Amino acid sequence: MSLTANGQRIVVNDVHLSYGSHAVLRGLTLHVAAGEIYALLGGNGAGKSTTMSALLGFVRPDAGTVEVAGYNPATQADQARAQIAYVPENVALYDHLTARENAAYLLALAGRRPEPQAIDAAFEATGLQEAAWDKRLGGFSKGMRQKVAIAIALLREVPVLLLDEPSSGLDPKATADFNRLVHDVARRGAAVLMVTHDLLSAADIADRIGFLEAGRIVDEAAAQGADRFDVRDLHRKFTAESVAA
Ligand SMILES: Nc1ncnc2c1ncn2[C@@H]1O[C@H](COP(=O)(O)OP(=O)(O)OP(=O)(O)O)[C@@H](O)[C@H]1O
Ligand SMILES: [Mg+2]
Repeated sequence: MSLTANGQRIVVNDVHLSYGSHAVLRGLTLHVAAGEIYALLGGNGAGKSTTMSALLGFVRPDAGTVEVAGYNPATQADQARAQIAYVPENVALYDHLTARENAAYLLALAGRRPEPQAIDAAFEATGLQEAAWDKRLGGFSKGMRQKVAIAIALLREVPVLLLDEPSSGLDPKATADFNRLVHDVARRGAAVLMVTHDLLSAADIADRIGFLEAGRIVDEAAAQGADRFDVRDLHRKFTAESVAA
């Protein structure tokens, strides 16, 4: 794994990106360091998932630079993707396979063959109840699926975690469990970029929060030591007419 010159694991510098004539990103800049959780907030259609797609090398910026652990996803997609665990809102898992089989199969695709005990330990860390480990995913709730997905992400041991609204639809307890896990992954040194509409989660675990509007970050705030973010303040900012105007 290589790092970028400034020690940042995720670098988005002055990125412009359009779909045809529709300009979505217009000078987006954000950096996420190892061990840091960056919450990306923004209204529907603001370009959050597009930013994820650019980091995964599925779309290519028209201008500006993107780097993932030192790789350019636009020209080195395979290398960049090998550094990333990506957990979208609806994870692609196999309903006819058990939780253990899903983990073993998806990790093998990523070139990893963890010991069965390592898979058990990862499930345990996510709080997935043991009775579910050998059950087929077809009957799993959304929260249970997200636990399997995050266990697989943990086992990949990659330096970058991308989360696109992973906790939407989870109940408050499942969301809190999920947040605790994400926090643990970051403390182990991963750079985490988390797209969320859940201001409480962002306030709870983010080290930095950026507001994406009109294609760029119009406001960014950092947690100061034990001083966390104020949810009401975030809500006010989020619902203000336009910070970009
Ligand atoms: N493949 C595509 N082709 C054309 N337009 C697209 C494509 N993907 C997204 N868009 C458009 O780009 C804009 C940004 O979409 P994006 O999915 O990045 O938004 P988002 O911030 O993730 O929104 P949401 O909060 O609803 O998930 C939207 O106007 C969307 O319609
Ligand atoms: Mg989206």
